[in-house]
Amino acid sequence: MRDLSRDLLEWYDIHARAMPWRVPPEDRKAGVLPDPYGVWLSEVMLQQTTVAAVRDYWRKFTGIWPTVSDLAAAEDADVMAAWAGLGYYARARNLLKCARTIVADHDGAFPSDYDTLLTLPGIGPYTAAAVAAIAFDRPATVLDGNVERVMARLHDEHTPLPAAKSLLMARAGALTPNERAGDYAQAVMDLGATICTPKSPACGICPWRRPCAARIAGTAAELPRKTPRKKVPTRRGIAYLVRRNDGAWLVETRPDKGMLGGMQGFPTSAWDDDPQPDPPVDADWTDTGIEARHTFTHFHLHLAIQTAVVKDGDVPRRGRFVPPAAFSPAALPTLFRKVFDLASATLRHD
Ligand code: ADE
Repeated sequence: MRDLSRDLLEWYDIHARAMPWRVPPEDRKAGVLPDPYGVWLSEVMLQQTTVAAVRDYWRKFTGIWPTVSDLAAAEDADVMAAWAGLGYYARARNLLKCARTIVADHDGAFPSDYDTLLTLPGIGPYTAAAVAAIAFDRPATVLDGNVERVMARLHDEHTPLPAAKSLLMARAGALTPNERAGDYAQAVMDLGATICTPKSPACGICPWRRPCAARIAGTAAELPRKTPRKKVPTRRGIAYLVRRNDGAWLVETRPDKGMLGGMQGFPTSAWDDDPQPDPPVDADWTDTGIEARHTFTHFHLHLAIQTAVVKDGDVPRRGRFVPPAAFSPAALPTLFRKVFDLASATLRHD
């Protein structure tokens, strides 16, 4: 078993991917560890999101809020706006809660052990293990989608996910070395991301090609098996894009609970099978015939876009008017960016 981790670490010494939050293996071997804040931030961002998409967001966040105390002191709305476009907005709300807990209960320093990390808001088994291993070299075991695939193939495990999770965790745990645990965690994930890929894995250049049971059995490309998901339903709704005569846009902050909680957006009706109109202001509405479509984890959403131009004195029932100079489409979640990009040009104002 030890030989397996050694072979992988030798591969990582040469092939480690460069990432802005990462300390390369030669520096880690010289005793340099990364800033736990940067590691935590990257790992929260990387859940459900690709490395390519995360790089710029990570740079933006660490530029504006260089320490966990800076982040803890930020305005909620600024953090939500900076997160816009990354999706899964509960992560951003938990990010703030976690930063504030670290300042309030841990003197602004990240705890280094897995069990304490696990007590923090938004930190589950994956993130706790990633921070303990990568930031503190603790021998914690990370199990993300990449590692699940690598373990399923290495052991030719045919039990489908998610039932196989605990089996794969045990397999991954048995391979985790006590030395260089942080590099090892990053190495398994890099292996899954670059060689042991979902389709056409590059088995010929894999450091684990010889021990890999699925390569020997010829089953690598079929693994891991997955229990089929239920079909994703489609929900519908109406999005109201409203401009005031002076050019201001009607925007509302969504309630903390629920989809896109805490984010800025345009007012909408409820989203369901049969949406009823629920306009945010009395106006002469235009049905644009344009639909914004977006897919969330558990449903597709089709929003029919209605527009209106209202007068300076008109008071909305919900939301507030944001003048053009303060309005930033980049601060909107992707769904509302789509609404804006699809329909804003159809609106004329004075
Ligand atoms: N995916 C998520 N976290 C990662 C990490 N630290 N290294 C490589 N891939 C990752």
